[in-house]
Amino acid sequence: MYRLIYRSEPTAPLNWEKVREILIQSEIKNEERGITGILLATKHSFLQVIEGKYEKVNKLFMKIVTDPRHHNIQLISFDLIDSRLFSGWGMKGLGLFDFNNDEAKMLKQKYGEDNEDIHFPLESWQVLSLINDLKMVRGLPDWRH
Ligand SMILES: Cc1cc2nc3c(=O)[nH]c(=O)nc-3n(C[C@H](O)[C@H](O)[C@H](O)COP(=O)(O)O)c2cc1C
Repeated sequence: MYRLIYRSEPTAPLNWEKVREILIQSEIKNEERGITGILLATKHSFLQVIEGKYEKVNKLFMKIVTDPRHHNIQLISFDLIDSRLFSGWGMKGLGLFDFNNDEAKMLKQKYGEDNEDIHFPLESWQVLSLINDLKMVRGLPDWRH
């Protein structure tokens, strides 16, 4: 089992509707391929974690890289793992678009700020730490409801 993490920039500013479209498109396909993960989005960045079998993760990443909805893709890590962090459903999604509260301030202090968005880190341990913090302050909601 492998875990791939990358960061990218959307070709146009993001909103939740656009992220949701990707999630709807991805969810069933990912489940069929045994892929799980999470997609984080701010107005100007994507950060995605993809977990699954080596070939499946590779193939999906190749597809995602050519998607015109984003560019400047930066691979953060591609690691052999013992178990998944995001079992449950195909692709969890978290949009970080309305950051005006204390939790946001705390996260920006800890991870930095980019264009008024929270900064997505470039090291995998920091990414996992950020996701863990988000889990605590926001939970990982079921975006379908
Ligand atoms: C940021 C981002 C994340 C994506 N994540 C996934 C994903 O997890 N699974 C997926 O099937 N497609 C994902 N896509 C969509 C793929 O790039 C591509 O559009 C889709 O897989 C096309 O599938 P098809 O060639 O089978 O029609 C993502 C696209 C973007 C821009």
